[in-house]
Amino acid sequence: MAIGVFDSGVGGLSVCHRLVDRFPAADFIYLADQANTPYGGRPGEEIVDLTRAGCERLFAEGCNLVVLACNTASGVALRRLQQTWLPGYRRALGRPVNVLGIIVPTIEAATGLPWEHEAERRGDKVEKLDILAVFSTPATAASRVYEIEIDKRRQDVAVFSEPCPQLAPMMEAGAGPDDFAPIIAAHVAAVTKRIGRSPDRAILGCTHYEIVGDQFRAALPAGTPLIHQPQATADALVRYLERHAEYDPGHGAVRRFLTTGRPGAQSSLVEAFWGAPLSFERA
Ligand code: DGL
Repeated sequence: MAIGVFDSGVGGLSVCHRLVDRFPAADFIYLADQANTPYGGRPGEEIVDLTRAGCERLFAEGCNLVVLACNTASGVALRRLQQTWLPGYRRALGRPVNVLGIIVPTIEAATGLPWEHEAERRGDKVEKLDILAVFSTPATAASRVYEIEIDKRRQDVAVFSEPCPQLAPMMEAGAGPDDFAPIIAAHVAAVTKRIGRSPDRAILGCTHYEIVGDQFRAALPAGTPLIHQPQATADALVRYLERHAEYDPGHGAVRRFLTTGRPGAQSSLVEAFWGAPLSFERA
């Protein structure tokens, strides 16, 4: 069996990279839905349908677990799919399959609390507010998933989401590193203005942004901690597989990259991030 990794495009490679580091012997099949990218400006129903189709494709390839390496799919579609589609699909398939997201591990890392934790609402005055900027797609920002879930757990953390509509589409279109810097700087300036000061910490809440993570680090005040979503996801998958022996991640170190879009190489920016030549097959 293999672990499937799904994103609308190349962004999920940032998560896949860390998963491959963490599970070098495991088999991975990556699927980029580049025929339908970007997801970040789409209505929720479309994101749900496209995410379900991506998961089905990866299960058909022999995956037993799919990691949604996409904040937009995790935030907008995952709960719906777990509630309305996955139980019946699993029964029809007759083998254990599951879909995991990347927002839960990121919120656990950002709050320092397990997902099950809900804060007691004591109404105490918060002494010092920790301001967390979340850079994301418009759909993730509109879902308010980071605001809602962090607020349930930590009253002393205030989330400011900054939607960045151009970044993922630019990366999918093959933009080079210099194209991103002014846009990232403008988003950092915009969220700083809204907060009234610089954020204390930040989340790159779209997996594409980690590929230009150094440019976010350069635009934020030096030393601003970034919650590392790929790392948080890899740590969570280690814990998940320890608890779920029924999901065998394979042992052949298979690496396959599928796309619903144009097969072949990706941009030099993406390949430099991956650290090796990448060739995508037609899904
Ligand atoms: N990489 C995705 C995310 O993490 C989606 C980007 C897009 O398709 O708009 O949200």
